[in-house]
Amino acid sequence: MRILVTGATGNVGRLVVDQLLAAGATQVRALTTDPARAALPPEVEVVEGYLGRVETLPRALAGVDRMYLAPLTKTVREVTALAREAGVTRIVDLAGPEGSWWYDIEKAVEQSGIPWTHLEAGEFMTNTTVWAEQIRDRGEVREAYPRAANAPIALEDIAAVAAKALLEDGHEHVAYGLTGPETLTRAELVAQIGQALGREIPLVEVSHAEALAELSAVMGADSAAWYLDGCAELARDPQPASPTVSRVLGRPGMRFAEWAVAHAELFR
Ligand SMILES: NC(=O)c1ccc[n+]([C@@H]2O[C@H](COP(=O)([O-])OP(=O)(O)OC[C@H]3O[C@@H](n4cnc5c(N)ncnc54)[C@H](OP(=O)(O)O)[C@@H]3O)[C@@H](O)[C@H]2O)c1
Repeated sequence: MRILVTGATGNVGRLVVDQLLAAGATQVRALTTDPARAALPPEVEVVEGYLGRVETLPRALAGVDRMYLAPLTKTVREVTALAREAGVTRIVDLAGPEGSWWYDIEKAVEQSGIPWTHLEAGEFMTNTTVWAEQIRDRGEVREAYPRAANAPIALEDIAAVAAKALLEDGHEHVAYGLTGPETLTRAELVAQIGQALGREIPLVEVSHAEALAELSAVMGADSAAWYLDGCAELARDPQPASPTVSRVLGRPGMRFAEWAVAHAELFR
């Protein structure tokens, strides 16, 4: 069974490759724009291409049974049509439910008629790196909504669920809402990063307007406004943790405290 991983050097795609190999998959093909730079494991068949350049896909899809579809909405209709033509029998996509930026992916995949599994991931733990510069430069974090609470997920767990859904039966036509194992406030996330670094990181509460000005410089005005509106919503209505990751994987998802220790260098 040949499995194509698209976006194979991406934050999630690269981990999907690792998870497939760890699970014993022997025919893993990886799609990347630059095979030399990609430095993928030697047992992986590397093919040059990108989801955004659909002319590169017929070659990449030849002989493929299943594919991990990275989240690119722009070309998803052409991509899924090509996958169908190539005889792909399962797509596991990283996307999002109706109302999210990624819903077009789910629609196109379903309309292709190819059996699918949707991975609807909540906020990624890596998004906390938005604080990395403040922690490095000032030793503190300035936040408008310290009581905003959600259950961020480790990319490693998204990839592990993707690998299961690619390799095992029983995941077809399911949309998995994926979160981490516990709901934590922004203040708790900052405290756990501090524990991982071995020092206290003060959290300074600032106004929405102040946070918007500061974050706009780091991530651009649109993303900063979107992030802060999301935090305001999570302060009013915290996101509960979903049991899906532990149900699918048969083990608990990675806790934020463990993730922060494993990735402490991101904040040093
Ligand atoms: N809840 C959430 O937060 C959520 C949910 C669903 C999706 N997402 C989104 O999922 C994505 C996950 O990140 P990811 O790194 O796994 O996937 P990605 O951003 O889609 O990137 C995948 C790969 O595509 C390739 N690529 C080639 N040309 C590119 C171009 N012009 N622009 C961008 N990428 C190009 C790159 O690899 P090569 O250079 O090797 O070709 C890149 O590593 C994030 O963008 C995130 O916003 C988030």
